[in-house]
Amino acid sequence: MAPPNTPRETRPPRLDALAKLPIFLDLAGKRVVLAGGGEPVVWKAELLAAAGAKVAIYAEHPEPELEALVADHPDALTLHRRAWTDSDLDGAWLGVADEPDPAEAARFVAAARTRGLLVNVIDNPPYCDFQFCTIVNRSPVVIGISTDGAAPILGQAIRRRIEAILPASLGSWGRTAKIFRDRVKELFPTKADRRRFWEKFVDVTFISQAQEDEQLAKIERLAAEILADKGDGPAIGEVVLVGAGPGDPELLTLKAMRELHSADVIVYDRLVTPGVLELGRREARRVHVGKEGHGAACRQEDISALLVDLALEGKRVVRLKGGDPAIFGRTGEEVEACRAAGVPVRIVPGVTSASAAAAALGVSLTHRDHAQRLQFVTGHDRHGALPQDVDLDALADPRATTVVYMGRRTAATLAGELMRRGLAPATPVIVASNASRADEKHTATTLEALAEGAGLAVENAPTLVLIGAALDASEREVSRPARTSLRLASAV
Ligand SMILES: C[S@@+](CC[C@H](N)C(=O)[O-])C[C@H]1O[C@@H](n2cnc3c(N)ncnc32)[C@H](O)[C@@H]1O
Repeated sequence: MAPPNTPRETRPPRLDALAKLPIFLDLAGKRVVLAGGGEPVVWKAELLAAAGAKVAIYAEHPEPELEALVADHPDALTLHRRAWTDSDLDGAWLGVADEPDPAEAARFVAAARTRGLLVNVIDNPPYCDFQFCTIVNRSPVVIGISTDGAAPILGQAIRRRIEAILPASLGSWGRTAKIFRDRVKELFPTKADRRRFWEKFVDVTFISQAQEDEQLAKIERLAAEILADKGDGPAIGEVVLVGAGPGDPELLTLKAMRELHSADVIVYDRLVTPGVLELGRREARRVHVGKEGHGAACRQEDISALLVDLALEGKRVVRLKGGDPAIFGRTGEEVEACRAAGVPVRIVPGVTSASAAAAALGVSLTHRDHAQRLQFVTGHDRHGALPQDVDLDALADPRATTVVYMGRRTAATLAGELMRRGLAPATPVIVASNASRADEKHTATTLEALAEGAGLAVENAPTLVLIGAALDASEREVSRPARTSLRLASAV
């Protein structure tokens, strides 16, 4: 009988096979030989110089761009106006050649390998011991991307995405971290405490606006806060009012994306589209404070109190608002509530819906021939009527473009008032709903037709009413209806 099996610890394989091993070479002060004077050599020379190498370039006929680059980097780059010879490779670490002639390429590789150099013949994979990768540079943080030559365009697309989510200041934070490393060891003797510090540090690097010369002081304070935190209550979080833009997730700013990626809680309203919300950090709690169906929205004081309470619990709260938070977004109340409670609060602007509508229409809201002034007004007061205190004379200015937010229900009344104050009945009007979204609609009409309700049929969609001669320059084919006849011009 076979003996019983004994328990045996197994380990899952940790890493799938790698096409190439990514390593980071320290080339500071090391000799590198570059053979060739054409365009591909220019970028390699720049790259190697940026990495601190001493680059000897051998080219009988260098491109003017290469000559200019060498002139700009006299310490790093030396240009020899002749063909390379075997002995030029002596003492070098790397050999790079732009050599289309197969026999010459083979000769370069043989000479380099005999001397133990790693070699790269540009665009000739069999003659490459290493490859240059696509780089995201936030030195000392450097990210290299390789597709092993399969699809360089894919590498570039990945780079663009990474560039978009990494703040430009990451590099300076990296340098600051290097300077602060020894101090962290002094302040936090245990590994666990040091880890706690570095985790908080990472959070700060992604959201702080601090300039390089302010960063050391900032992380000194951070360290002091962590040391002072005896565990008798969470540290205060913060509230960031973030503009979600008009709906199309592509119109989010890079800053807004970063905030969404580092949120603990996302408090959002009705105008925030699912596509934008989707971009929030997976683990973040999501709290909807807008209208549900035809129900009422949450009370503003409850929303403000919620933001404050969450931040006092130590949460990083992203208050996500449609369009730009500073335009009809009740931002004032929320900022005041945070300040009154001692909660740090910041604003990240967004693309307002008027800008999105203008872009889709192909118009400039301040076309120099038609408008000297752009006015954003609200079309409803707290009871849903046209606000009593709105300056109708200013709105009737024929040299202005007026964008009415929340104005669908009162637009007809407004149009009548404007005509009574002398604005021409034929003044162009566009009623734009769902700007930047898949179901975007524009109705072109006139002030006179608007006064009779023309173009206002789209229910339950966020709608702007744009009034003014500048809208006449709209690129899209819109028919100007006679009084009540309308044509819907749907968006691209
Ligand atoms: C409370 S205000 C918020 C405005 C927002 N902060 C902005 O900058 O666009 C809501 C009004 O904005 C307008 N609005 C917001 N998003 C819109 C969109 N995608 N298309 C058209 N109008 C929009 C509508 O007039 C809506 O009633």
